[in-house]
Amino acid sequence: MTKALDVKANEKLFIELKDYIDSVKDVNGSLMQVLHMAQETFGYLPIEVQKFISSELDVPLAEVYGVATFYTQFAIEPKGKHKIGVCLGTACYVKGAQKIMDKLAKELKIKVGETTQDNLFTFEATRCLGCCGLAPVMMIDHDVYGKLEPKKIPEILAKYK
Ligand code: FES
Repeated sequence: MTKALDVKANEKLFIELKDYIDSVKDVNGSLMQVLHMAQETFGYLPIEVQKFISSELDVPLAEVYGVATFYTQFAIEPKGKHKIGVCLGTACYVKGAQKIMDKLAKELKIKVGETTQDNLFTFEATRCLGCCGLAPVMMIDHDVYGKLEPKKIPEILAKYK
């Protein structure tokens, strides 16, 4: 379960967000802009931030939550320090991406879409990364690992620990 955001400890960030909301609140479509700014400020969109946006923008919480969960660029859970993306495009899938996913899930003890307990890794599936000749492909942050075999994964993960 996600730990609640400490509102008191993050008071400065809420003030920054409020200033931004005040500057765009009369603009059409400002909810998207505010969510982007909030995510940049807090790193993700916890429920406490969604409630704040709802009350400051005078938009129902259900609408804020709906938009925050509909678009993949928004995260309502904190992300890990390193983002792992396993390509599930056709070429990678045919070359064994599922085995890479299974090995990662086992090594990290999380499911796809989740973040490890120590907040070190977030594990996601991605669309084609544009280097199909290297299938199957995994990215960690900006590093690309191609022609990947499941047995190489522990050694690769160790570099980021
Ligand atoms: S299908 Fe994986 S990189 Fe294109």
